[in-house]
Amino acid sequence: MPIQERVLTDCLEPFKGFVLSSMIFAMHRHGLDEDFERGTTLEELVASRGGLDRARTAALVDYLAAAQVIARDPGGRLTLTPLGRRFGEARPWYEMMIGGYGITFLELGEHLGQGSPPAPRVGRFVGSGSCGISMHDSIPLVRKLLATTGRDYRMLVDLGCGSGVYLTELCRDHPRMRAVGIEPDAAAVEAAREWVATQPTADRVRVEQAGALEWLASGAERPDLAVLAFVIHEVLGQEGEEGVRRLLTELFEAAPDLDLVIVDIDLQSSDEAAMKHPLAQNYYNAYYLMHPFTRQRLETRAWWEALFADCGLEIAASSLTDPAMDSTGMEVGWLLRRRAS
Ligand SMILES: C[S@@+](CC[C@H](N)C(=O)[O-])C[C@H]1O[C@@H](n2cnc3c(N)ncnc32)[C@H](O)[C@@H]1O
Repeated sequence: MPIQERVLTDCLEPFKGFVLSSMIFAMHRHGLDEDFERGTTLEELVASRGGLDRARTAALVDYLAAAQVIARDPGGRLTLTPLGRRFGEARPWYEMMIGGYGITFLELGEHLGQGSPPAPRVGRFVGSGSCGISMHDSIPLVRKLLATTGRDYRMLVDLGCGSGVYLTELCRDHPRMRAVGIEPDAAAVEAAREWVATQPTADRVRVEQAGALEWLASGAERPDLAVLAFVIHEVLGQEGEEGVRRLLTELFEAAPDLDLVIVDIDLQSSDEAAMKHPLAQNYYNAYYLMHPFTRQRLETRAWWEALFADCGLEIAASSLTDPAMDSTGMEVGWLLRRRAS
């Protein structure tokens, strides 16, 4: 017996979300939402943005209109709807989770087997999307932790700097500080350099292409402030616990008076009560899922805190994100120092 239309429609609800989120990212990526915000027509869009294929752009416009992301008046004028504008508020989440990890989710089934290689991801969008999200959650958290120290920092190293926003934001807060961003992904380095060049603090910031351990081995700098935001779980996935211990130990050997800020996500994916939170359902559930497929290893808050203690570090301060923005309690920030012996 053929499937009932009502059942089929219900069953295809997740599929609708898959394509819709991909099209929201496509619209943002090409800045088309800005054209729709101003108001445009298909012809103006194709003419003003040289290089767009007319038939494909028309298909995207039809799709977005049917999905009520844009509205089309009888004269063919296209404008962003309140719903379309709303999605723009979560732009960096789409950038990271679709631009960066969309390909990962699609390929995930091919990478479940023991010994299979990591699933692909797009480093540039992981770095830039993550930094965009950080403007909302992690950078305020880092500022809150640093406000407890009262120190006048002179040299920051941001290990895994992505598109570089911590460098420029923190240099704004600390006028005498210079900063270096370390980032292994070539496209993210390019994005970070482009971003830094547009900022008033550009003359105090530089970006280098390297992994965290590789940079440390070069012995280049002696920072008094270091940031590892959503990067320590990358090192744990790539180099194992031994690599993380080496990173922490060498950081403090090179700069014993260092203030180290680590921000990471507490692994709560198997806590069914925690995962019922609406933001956990709409975001963290997918966030937790893709990590083991991309050589990343998340751990619990308790696990990290035991490791820090074992590496001779003390927690000078810790905090969660502002609950007005994220009340899951899943994102944690620590300010770490070498324990006085
Ligand atoms: C999730 S992003 C975080 C970007 C930024 N720190 C933030 O908080 O938004 C993780 C970044 O770490 C970088 N990364 C991966 N492995 C690394 C390593 N071994 N050392 C330093 N950075 C690394 C990635 O390329 C990526 O840009």
